[in-house]
Amino acid sequence: MSIYVITGVSKGIGFEFLKQISQEPKNLVVGLVRDKAATEKKVAAELGDRSNVHILHGDLDDYASLKQAAADTAAIVGERGIDYLVANAALVSTFYHFDYPGVLGDKPEELEEAAAKIFRTNVVGNMHLFNLFVPLVLKGTVKKVIALSSGNCDLDLINELEIETAVLYSASKAAMNVVVAKYGARYKRLGVLFLSISPGAVEVGHYAETTPEQTQSLVGFMGKLSAYAPHFKGPSSVEEAIPLIRSTWEKASIESGFGGAFVSQHGNKQWL
Ligand SMILES: NC(=O)c1ccc[n+]([C@@H]2O[C@H](COP(=O)([O-])OP(=O)(O)OC[C@H]3O[C@@H](n4cnc5c(N)ncnc54)[C@H](OP(=O)(O)O)[C@@H]3O)[C@@H](O)[C@H]2O)c1
Repeated sequence: MSIYVITGVSKGIGFEFLKQISQEPKNLVVGLVRDKAATEKKVAAELGDRSNVHILHGDLDDYASLKQAAADTAAIVGERGIDYLVANAALVSTFYHFDYPGVLGDKPEELEEAAAKIFRTNVVGNMHLFNLFVPLVLKGTVKKVIALSSGNCDLDLINELEIETAVLYSASKAAMNVVVAKYGARYKRLGVLFLSISPGAVEVGHYAETTPEQTQSLVGFMGKLSAYAPHFKGPSSVEEAIPLIRSTWEKASIESGFGGAFVSQHGNKQWL
């Protein structure tokens, strides 16, 4: 049996992780969310009664909620610990995605607020998560901590394709990659693999409510991606994305050189 703790299972990639991993009855999944009642309702409606699923309240912006979630997880799993900690949750908004570096040039307060908010959630929130849950990972058997990153913060890709959008989001993911590598350096000697994985471009409904300017920006971005990877026909479904990501974290080990690494869903630097 493997035990997973996954953040942000309310929707998107996180919900699909929960769905596919808990489909295997030998697995136990603890999912952390901001709205516990709504997610429990969704799980019951879409997945039915799965006794191997536990939904806990856990907000990356609220240290106390994460601390309580770690205590509740310990009560569920006991001395067995957890095998996989999947830091999937992130602040992803259309504003961060489609706008250009200078877009808030004349609104410095808004720029500061947006930057503080996204770094607070995507970087500091995940540091709290690691600090509180790594003791449980150390008790587990598999000992893997996976952070969902983004190819959007790969410098070679940004430079080659001249990707100027999503600056704050990408910067927060780059900072997260460094945090993951630092924790990896710290815990490698205790056998814990820390790894950042980009899921590729995955359709989760982020493009549903874009303004005409944002749609234009998106079309340009997708065009660049098609030129970079001619096989790319648009974002993949969550159903297709999850097995690829999981097979990459299964293959990765400290021994094979993946400690602290940042890779794509394919386990390399091919981002699509
Ligand atoms: N989809 C893609 O193409 C893509 C590409 C590259 C990287 N990624 C990464 O993949 C991961 C999953 O993204 P997604 O595409 O599934 O996006 P999503 O559908 O927007 O899901 C984001 C999840 O994070 C949760 N979340 C946001 N802020 C939180 C907070 N303060 N505390 C706890 N949970 C919080 C959301 O919960 P609520 O329901 O409460 O808002 C939601 O469950 C993210 O790390 C994202 O950066 C996705």
